[in-house]
Amino acid sequence: MQIEKRLKELQEYYLEHSIDEKFPKVIKEQLGIEINAFYGKFKISHPVLVAPGQLTREKQQIERIKNSGYAGCVLKSVVGEDEKGNCSMIRYRKSMTFLKTVYEDFDKEGAFPVILWNGRADVRNLKNYFEFAKEVFSMNNNNFLIVSSVLSHFPEKNQEIKKDEWIYTTKKLYEIGYRFFEIDFCPGLKIEKEITEKENILRIYREIPQILKDAFPEIVVFPKLINLDYGIDFQVKMVEEAIKGRADGIVIGNRIFKEEINGAWGGKELRERNLKVIKEVKKSYPKFSISGTGGIYTGEHIYQYLKSGADSVQILSYILGKVKKPFLKQKGDKFEKVIYELFFNPVDGLLKCYLAIT
Ligand SMILES: Cc1cc2nc3c(=O)[nH]c(=O)nc-3n(C[C@H](O)[C@H](O)[C@H](O)COP(=O)(O)O)c2cc1C
Repeated sequence: MQIEKRLKELQEYYLEHSIDEKFPKVIKEQLGIEINAFYGKFKISHPVLVAPGQLTREKQQIERIKNSGYAGCVLKSVVGEDEKGNCSMIRYRKSMTFLKTVYEDFDKEGAFPVILWNGRADVRNLKNYFEFAKEVFSMNNNNFLIVSSVLSHFPEKNQEIKKDEWIYTTKKLYEIGYRFFEIDFCPGLKIEKEITEKENILRIYREIPQILKDAFPEIVVFPKLINLDYGIDFQVKMVEEAIKGRADGIVIGNRIFKEEINGAWGGKELRERNLKVIKEVKKSYPKFSISGTGGIYTGEHIYQYLKSGADSVQILSYILGKVKKPFLKQKGDKFEKVIYELFFNPVDGLLKCYLAIT
């Protein structure tokens, strides 16, 4: 009863006051709940990171993410090159021509935005991207984790991986100071049938982490799981190959490419799919670290990911999309309003889930 009252006080307090990086400490002091989480072996202040995408490609955005109390973020994926400027995946540096929010049929209030767009990875050349990556790295510290993300050569069947492109790009980020790397298996790869052919995609999940870990033994590598239509056992197989390649963890999982809309889809379908895969992976590999992403719009969704076995979660659409349902918190920017909903919403906030108050 006492705790319920203190939670209510905190909910009221943060409606009026800004949320900042100290809020996990306040929760610990006031409610006795430890909300810290992990990305691999790295302890983060709570489970919520901002996912790579259109909100993590400018310095001002990273500042706002940090100042609103997120545990960290993953930078927009860079398209890799070798030292001579060869860039076999240059087609992924494609500028978008549209980005819009849509709502699923059940979502009458417009509370769960899904993004439709036609862009891909970061469009900048390496020089400009590295300037950005360098500028923001100083914000990385024990309370705010910045993860980098690379998309580089994905070979077709019977092709060798162009190691130089992966290694040169990673080396440049490594020299800036980055130690945490995601590998962006982008949803659009699904239509590149020669790349996502079954045997080929499995060996790519094994070989790319291997190449990176051989070249930079102390980095942490998290490939992002592509959502293919080969069934759940195959999703687990891709994770198994990544483990063989010495990946430190996996992000589960990227949006679902749908031919009928010629783009990627997220929302409830993605969340439900991912939760099943996470549970399956955990059955076979209980210690393998998982960062969950997809269709998270409430603290209860986060709780489902954590209960299924994720150590952290990554969110994009809820912050980037147009949310029609009014946020409880009126003050502050969107990053703050979202974090308030996720943690402090009295109906389905994460703290309510943690305390299991009924
Ligand atoms: C507009 C947009 C851009 C994205 N860009 C990237 C990217 O550069 N790298 C990446 O790994 N994932 C990217 N993603 C995937 C997101 O990081 C995230 O994993 C996915 O959208 C699922 O989370 P959500 O349902 O909260 O959006 C992008 C997604 C969207 C909608």
